Amino acid sequence: MADSAATAASARESDHSTTVRQEFARQAPTFAQDDSFFASERLARWILRTVSLEGVEVALEVACGASHFGEVMAAEVRQVVGLDLTPEMLATGQQRLAGRGVGNVLLQTGDVARLPFLDGSFDLVFCRFAVHHFDAPAQAIAEMVRTCRPGGRIAIVDMVSRPELNERFNTMERRRDPSHTRALAIEELHGMLEGNGAVIEVTTDREVPMNVEGWLAQSLTPAAEADAIRAELRVDLDGGTATGMRPLLKDGELHFLQDWHIAVARKR
Ligand SMILES: C[S@@+](CC[C@H](N)C(=O)[O-])C[C@H]1O[C@@H](n2cnc3c(N)ncnc32)[C@H](O)[C@@H]1O
Repeated sequence: MADSAATAASARESDHSTTVRQEFARQAPTFAQDDSFFASERLARWILRTVSLEGVEVALEVACGASHFGEVMAAEVRQVVGLDLTPEMLATGQQRLAGRGVGNVLLQTGDVARLPFLDGSFDLVFCRFAVHHFDAPAQAIAEMVRTCRPGGRIAIVDMVSRPELNERFNTMERRRDPSHTRALAIEELHGMLEGNGAVIEVTTDREVPMNVEGWLAQSLTPAAEADAIRAELRVDLDGGTATGMRPLLKDGELHFLQDWHIAVARKR
């Protein structure tokens, strides 16, 4: 019984890994653009204010994508290791870093659910906008804590979901990008860190108006699905069926509200 449950779980996981690789192989070119959401300096500054760095750390970034934040950290720490499931994302990152002369970032393919590092290898283990793509977030966070040294820090930046909107919000996010699994509630995220022996030290939150066109363009959502999403958000905006996305107009353009959270925890 336990074996068949484990086999089923591992089959589901590899199905989802295939979805992640397919989606991000497709999306990788959007990460190469200078105006990519992931290249935002404002976003990077917000994170750096919360996750202060000392210049001496050896840092691991899991699900590093095209290493946008790896590049930012590289200027502030001794060494960055970036790991991601999707080779095309790492290839985009490699080109970006080489073009900018960044010499202290190592990139390698791998799955956050099985990190190929010894216990306690890193001073800082970091993850940005990726937990909501993980099939097994509890296992991923356990791995992040395992590979952090005692006294080191684990920092997670992600969108979170409000319990009352959770289901509808995550359903629409999955329609936009099938590699989305679910945004966690803040309490769940903290519970996963604390349950693995880390103590939450700093948190910060931001409610961010997301431009719907930029959001759909980033994920290269197929046109028919993108049209259906736009139409449902408009109906919601006009007081019709709620999508869980909290749509609004900003400067005359359709937006919705996303909740971002940073949790920095110290390993005991
Ligand atoms: C939205 S992108 C974010 C990239 C990067 N963290 C950033 O903020 O610039 C999500 C990334 O998570 C990666 N990913 C998803 N599941 C993963 C897993 N199980 N192990 C490693 N990487 C994963 C994807 O390949 C993709 O590059």
